[in-house]
Amino acid sequence: MKNIILIGFMGSGKSSVGKKLAEKLGIDWLDMDTEISEKEGKSISEIFEEHNEDYFRDLETKYLYKIINIKNVVLSTGGGVVLKKENIDLLKNIGTVIFLHADSEQLMEQLKDSTDRPLLKGENVEDKIKSMLEQRDTIYVGAADIIIQTTGKTIENVVEEIISLL
Ligand code: S3P
Repeated sequence: MKNIILIGFMGSGKSSVGKKLAEKLGIDWLDMDTEISEKEGKSISEIFEEHNEDYFRDLETKYLYKIINIKNVVLSTGGGVVLKKENIDLLKNIGTVIFLHADSEQLMEQLKDSTDRPLLKGENVEDKIKSMLEQRDTIYVGAADIIIQTTGKTIENVVEEIISLL
């Protein structure tokens, strides 16, 4: 089986679905944010604060090159990984890319109390989410081999749906 890569907006369930999916399939689960954070010895927020977004995007690219030959994993990505075309090409090389699509109300609900996402700090978080979604939705669709609608579904529902499509 090819590796499975989950992409989608912050709060769309990439980590919780990825973890459960890997468990069910009996394969390893990797979470890009966690891997990058461990390698740097810093939280994602600290990386953004001490450097900037571009620096973080480069770390994402480096990580994808590092795992390019990996086998039998589910990889949960960070929501902005698709912002670099090079990353999309790398993801497609590594495995089957699955976009977890949730509607904006569900994402807002999921993200309203989030404190560890540097791009959602400050004022007018709802407006920020809306404009990021506008920018990103078509990119996620373009990068995906499979699109799963997650709105109103449990993690288990989404996991079963993915397994039925593999
Ligand atoms: C980001 C999403 C985050 C993390 C970083 C940037 C983004 O991951 O990579 O804060 O640009 O959407 P999650 O999607 O897991 O929250």
